[in-house]
Amino acid sequence: MHNENQFQATDSPAELAPAEATAAKSLSEEAAASRRDPALAAVNISKSIGSRLILDNVSVSLARGELKVVIGPSGAGKSTFLQCINGLIPPDTGQVFLEGQSLNMRNKHELRLFRQQVGMIFQDFNLFDHLTALDNVAIALRKVRGMSRQDSEARAMSELERVGLANRARLYPAELSGGQTQRVAFARALAMDPKVLLLDEPTSALDPELVGEVLEVIRYLAKGGMTMLMATHQMDFARALAHEILFMEHGRVIESGSPAELLAAGSGTRTLDFCSRLDLEL
Ligand SMILES: Nc1ncnc2c1ncn2[C@@H]1O[C@H](COP(=O)(O)OP(=O)(O)OP(=O)(O)O)[C@@H](O)[C@H]1O
Ligand SMILES: [Mg+2]
Repeated sequence: MHNENQFQATDSPAELAPAEATAAKSLSEEAAASRRDPALAAVNISKSIGSRLILDNVSVSLARGELKVVIGPSGAGKSTFLQCINGLIPPDTGQVFLEGQSLNMRNKHELRLFRQQVGMIFQDFNLFDHLTALDNVAIALRKVRGMSRQDSEARAMSELERVGLANRARLYPAELSGGQTQRVAFARALAMDPKVLLLDEPTSALDPELVGEVLEVIRYLAKGGMTMLMATHQMDFARALAHEILFMEHGRVIESGSPAELLAAGSGTRTLDFCSRLDLEL
């Protein structure tokens, strides 16, 4: 999904005319920087609500194409952390970087641009009830990207096809199953060509038989190289696909590592203990 190949195709500056060479040089500097910098980094995020410390110096860094999973008990701060990253909840301290660029959350314009590049999927879908699946996807393309109705609908349809819903495009959210509704939310996020997706328990509001179809979309995105940070309790999925698991408790990341490290039988990790006490399938 990311476009590293475009950088490899850049001509060598030495073979180009001076003006082109300068442009190519800055392109290749950009390419080098984008390889060096994580796709997304959140550094030392802290947040108090009233007198309670909800997040205590939480950090994460995602290289391009990485999928990291946040787990932990209810109230640990997973949702707050994801929302602090995209400024839905302003953190008290800490910094967020997108491809090495620091985000100034107080700058509304910067925040809007950031959110166009960092999509968010919520547990409860967040679609407009009065719009069809197609319009739910197309509307942001018109409002944010300034696309025509025709272009926005064509793009929306291709995103709905990607999540297997072309034949549901004209239905309203109330006429779709939970799994289908969540897949429309994915189509809507993907239509913005995000660099990163933040997923907050995207399957936890679904009936068990509908979880698989949404995980299938996430699996497809992960295989395609989408960078994702996901709060979830789907440990089978995390074990198979996550590059790293962050275990949060009381507003802090108390353990992190690869699934193999944290979920190995007999490893004695807090993560394993949490999963077995919740009777989560492993
Ligand atoms: N607006 C708020 N006002 C007061 N406290 C809040 C607010 N939002 C969250 N909290 C508190 O912050 C803590 C972290 O909440 P958060 O929703 O981030 O946890 P979570 O790990 O996502 O839990 P869950 O697994 O239940 O989704 C909780 O104790 C919650 O009660
Ligand atoms: Mg939550």
